[in-house]
Amino acid sequence: MLYRDLTSELERRRAAHLYRQRRRIEAAPGPHLTLDGRPAIAFCTNDYLGLARHPEVIAACQRGVETYGVGSGSAHLVAGHGPAHQALEEELADFLGRERALLFSTGYMANLGLIQALAGPGDPVFEDRLNHASLIDGALLARARLRRYPHGDVAALLRQLAACAHAESESGSGSSSGFGCESRSEFVSGSESGSGFWCESGSEPGFGFGSESGSESGCGFGSGSRSDARSRSASGSGPDTAPTATGHSVALIATDGVFSMDGDLAPLPELAAIARAAGVPLLVDDAHGLGVLGREGRGSLDHFGLDAVAVPILMGTLGKALGTFGAFVAGSEDLIETLIQTARPYIYTTAPPPALAAATRASLALARREEWRRERLRELIQTFRQGAAQLGLPLMPSTTPIQPILAGSAERALAWSQALEARGILVTAIRPPTVPEGSARLRVTLCALHTDQDLDCLLAALAELPKGARDPGAAA
Ligand SMILES: Cc1ncc(COP(=O)(O)O)c(C=O)c1O
Repeated sequence: MLYRDLTSELERRRAAHLYRQRRRIEAAPGPHLTLDGRPAIAFCTNDYLGLARHPEVIAACQRGVETYGVGSGSAHLVAGHGPAHQALEEELADFLGRERALLFSTGYMANLGLIQALAGPGDPVFEDRLNHASLIDGALLARARLRRYPHGDVAALLRQLAACAHAESESGSGSSSGFGCESRSEFVSGSESGSGFWCESGSEPGFGFGSESGSESGCGFGSGSRSDARSRSASGSGPDTAPTATGHSVALIATDGVFSMDGDLAPLPELAAIARAAGVPLLVDDAHGLGVLGREGRGSLDHFGLDAVAVPILMGTLGKALGTFGAFVAGSEDLIETLIQTARPYIYTTAPPPALAAATRASLALARREEWRRERLRELIQTFRQGAAQLGLPLMPSTTPIQPILAGSAERALAWSQALEARGILVTAIRPPTVPEGSARLRVTLCALHTDQDLDCLLAALAELPKGARDPGAAA
């Protein structure tokens, strides 16, 4: 047979309430949409500050198109890097107190590029179990040895770091970081195709939640041995010309700043202290903190008062609170130059349209100066949590605009989402493998442009969810 039995696989997904479907959204300004021809209020976008359709952002984008055209025409390193990209990179670096910033086409690619540039095959990469799929996939692309610690559990991370250092001293392999982890016994073979990857011992071989790719098939990525990986082709067709940045084992700790499906904050001060003590660089993906937390929206590091010494590698996205598209990495001169030289998702792709960079400059300025948007979010969060608690809904411990309501089974999450939609409220159901089995949820998100009335409508619709079904432990 040429193909797997795709029809049966799709049917199985449907039967397990895991089938995903796109919706046709016609957007009007703000969180008020037309959904399949009917008006609806969206409580599920990442446009937290309500900047995606701001007139100043739209005007900047239009001027950008008139000035620069639509497409960038080529990769940054060929002829795609223009004055709008450059200006945005400088503004982001200045805003975040870093030597430099580097634009990527998407956040997914930024994380792939970062980890692939910093970690080589077999190098240990320590990640929170609930990290975004792109951080997990970055470790796969690097063929690093992924070690996932339980969510927010700094003690478990410490144990993993210690075990890793011990394994290295036992094997006598030396690396500058002291975390070489050369034991091959932990190589986990991947999917049926014979591929494999390095994974924390004792963890399941597949990537359950947290990874959209490969999760059900056991995470096969590429094929071959560690040494094969070292000599893999840089461009996909020739000999390897893009070695890892260091050429030897380097450990990395990577975490979301604000967890995308839970809304809680990583214990960044503790992680930063551990990383510094261990001499391991800390990478924070602040996709959901940037614009929302900290002074002028500088994000979760600023919220905790952490600087570039404490957290040397900062990644942020532009398609969420900043309302546009793309992503960046901010850090030292050497980090950025290393990415330019070696990050494949940076090198081998077309640069984002310059007009988008122009639009982001406008939205960044708005995000910085319009504090009322963050104040409004704080108000909405408080009112929502009070109202939902009065309804007895199972909230999660989040202080951010991501306010999930735990449903438990995928079937129940889907039923809740459909019940809300019948009342003109759009909240998508988040199901495994995006979240752990048994923790399907409605991922409610708040936007500074939601009115009090919008929130009343949401709470009224939530009040109508089937009684007795609100306990996620109960059968669906
Ligand atoms: C924590 C986190 N990192 C990275 C990404 C990827 O960003 P992008 O949508 O720009 O690819 C997302 C969202 O999609 C995210 O939630």
